[in-house]
Amino acid sequence: MKGYLRNRLSLRSLRLSLRFVLPLVVVLALLAFAIVPIVDNLTLRWFVRDMDIRSQLITSTLQEPLLELLQQGNRAKINSLFMRAIQDERLFAVGYCDGKGKMLYRTPNFPSDIVCSLPDTAAYKPRSLLHLTQGPVHVAINPIKDNGALAGSMVLVHDMSFVERRSADTKQYVIILFVILGVVISAITVFIAHLSWRGWLKGMRAMLHGEGLVRPFTQTDNPELQPLVGDLRALLRTMDSERRFADDVTIAWTPESLRSLLHKQLDGDQVLVVSNREPYIHMKGKEGIEVRRPASGLVTAMEPVMRACSGIWIAHGSGTADKETVDKYDRVPVPPDRPDYTLRRIWLTNEEEIGYYFGFANEGLWPLCHIAHVRPIFRSTDWEHYMAINQRFADAVVEEAKSDDPVVLVQDYHFALLPRMIRKALPKATVITFWHIPWPNPESFGICPWREELLRGMLGSTILGFHTRFHCKNFLETVDRYLETRTEHESSTIHHRGKLTLVESYPISIQWPLKVQQTQPSPLECRAEVERSLNLAADMLIGLGVDRLDYTKGILERLRAVERLLELHPEMVGRFTFIQIAAPSRSVLEDYQALDTQVRSLTNRINQRFAADSYQPIILKVEHHEPDDVNRYYRAADVCMVTSLHDGMNLVAKEFVAARDDERGVLVLSQFTGAAQELHEALIVNPYHIEQTAEALHRALTMPDYEQQERMRSMRDLVRDFNVYRWAGRMLLDAARIRQREKLAGRIGINHDA
Ligand code: F6P
Repeated sequence: MKGYLRNRLSLRSLRLSLRFVLPLVVVLALLAFAIVPIVDNLTLRWFVRDMDIRSQLITSTLQEPLLELLQQGNRAKINSLFMRAIQDERLFAVGYCDGKGKMLYRTPNFPSDIVCSLPDTAAYKPRSLLHLTQGPVHVAINPIKDNGALAGSMVLVHDMSFVERRSADTKQYVIILFVILGVVISAITVFIAHLSWRGWLKGMRAMLHGEGLVRPFTQTDNPELQPLVGDLRALLRTMDSERRFADDVTIAWTPESLRSLLHKQLDGDQVLVVSNREPYIHMKGKEGIEVRRPASGLVTAMEPVMRACSGIWIAHGSGTADKETVDKYDRVPVPPDRPDYTLRRIWLTNEEEIGYYFGFANEGLWPLCHIAHVRPIFRSTDWEHYMAINQRFADAVVEEAKSDDPVVLVQDYHFALLPRMIRKALPKATVITFWHIPWPNPESFGICPWREELLRGMLGSTILGFHTRFHCKNFLETVDRYLETRTEHESSTIHHRGKLTLVESYPISIQWPLKVQQTQPSPLECRAEVERSLNLAADMLIGLGVDRLDYTKGILERLRAVERLLELHPEMVGRFTFIQIAAPSRSVLEDYQALDTQVRSLTNRINQRFAADSYQPIILKVEHHEPDDVNRYYRAADVCMVTSLHDGMNLVAKEFVAARDDERGVLVLSQFTGAAQELHEALIVNPYHIEQTAEALHRALTMPDYEQQERMRSMRDLVRDFNVYRWAGRMLLDAARIRQREKLAGRIGINHDA
């Protein structure tokens, strides 16, 4: 195969060279024919000038003896003098004309066509080139002076036939010279073309493998090309960012534009999603099987994307009725009411779930990646399960793949090893991994005993996405610290074992407009409903928190800020109620159980402190809420508090904004969320600073309507434009670009695993 490719490549370089050589031969031939007469003319002029000088010289030499012999009238000696003169190979004939223009002496072969002419007459031509029957001749008529007075003239006839011989020779030499020139140039061209083709191939291979982006690929080979390579790379980067900018400006991201992107840019290639959490959970309820939507930012974001892409979503089947609702291939069409895509469920034993999900993912990686002052715990048994379950999901990807090059979207920290496993089984697959949580600095990550394995696993990805540039930077630095790779920070790429990974930020978002919104009552009605259900007074100011019950969410800090608000602004007691919706999460784990206890007891303490009659400052609802319910609370609240201690993005912030089509309500947002980098019109707080958060809450509760409207309108514009379709679309566009490059590499015979 390699030999075949090499032959094809040589043929290609030969064809390439011929394309240059043939025109070169034609041009050289034309040149040669144009140049010969020029050279002829030039040499003739040189020879004529030569003959002129020669004639002068002969005349000067003969003048004295001739004058003497003329005075003596010695005809015989004059003839003999002339005969001796024409012994010269070139001098053909000599004659002498007297002062009256009569030829007195001449050698026997003197051409009859040549006549005398006097230097002072109009017919006098001192030098001329004539074509006689004998052939071409040069005629020079030189005056002979006796003591300064004109005595006569000497006519010297030189044979010029040698010029023709020389011209024929010159023609021959010129043609030979051009032929040699042609051959030499062609040989050099073929040689250079061959080298350049190979060099180009090498360059292409490097570029397509990303080496050109990772390091200057000609650094060692062709240092003189460095400036050119640098310019080329800069140009590529500029084109890339311009292309992205153009995409951003020109594409309005909707489910339709995402669908058409899939068909146009990705040729309708199959899209597979892998996540731990499934988008629809079937539970056994009192009235039969119920379908639940989990409290998960990941699911919130991915679900609309999958509905647009109609692919297969592979996830852990964790519901009590999940097994009863799948077909014999463990598949179930979803959404249940109007199926758009397929959910493929993967089963885990209790022990596996404890090791892989609760243990390694949530006691190890979760606290490792979040700065929330909870120490990570790493156990070898958990690691074993983590590896085994990643492999199980990788096998499922291979089973579900309809081709050898599907687009696989791997979600989150549960699957750090999966990208490499997929790549091993399906080398042509495009693996886009999105890390939904923050990425820590290299020192923090270094705590993990299996740090190298995790990093290597992730580098099986074609694209590795984080929410923010800061997380990308942390990841690049971590890889730099712990693995032997070529990392290029400028282009955010990592080259590891012949594989390139693009590390890019793709801030996640939500569907726009929110699907639930279409069936929701107005904000006023929602408010009335919430007031009724919670027995709140009509003029009560409502604060809202919506989270999983997780220590990273800053729920305790938030409750303390509510307490401080009531201390600092006693007029708010009885006027302000804070509703905390907390979805139970990972409750098997001690840290989560402890948090549950702490949240409940802090709530009780604050309530006891400020309660009066039916008034309760904090309403804690530790239970699962379906998206419709949550949305109703969003629309009813005056303020939404997102006070995470550390959060990749936090979609609650964006959901609240999306829910407020009345352009009312204020968002208090932690500076430690990814969302704070986008939603600048929120009141940004440091959740560790209790007074600052309490004051922000107060400011939110007393903010004039017009200010609420301005802030909310601006945030809504952002969430509308930077919606989840854009998040997925940008990743898929980048993937399409990389796939095109790889296909090109395949076409020109580059082996990607080389
Ligand atoms: O934040 C990371 C994440 O995976 C989110 O995407 C999601 O909201 C949450 O964790 C869900 O956690 P779990 O699946 O453990 O309930």
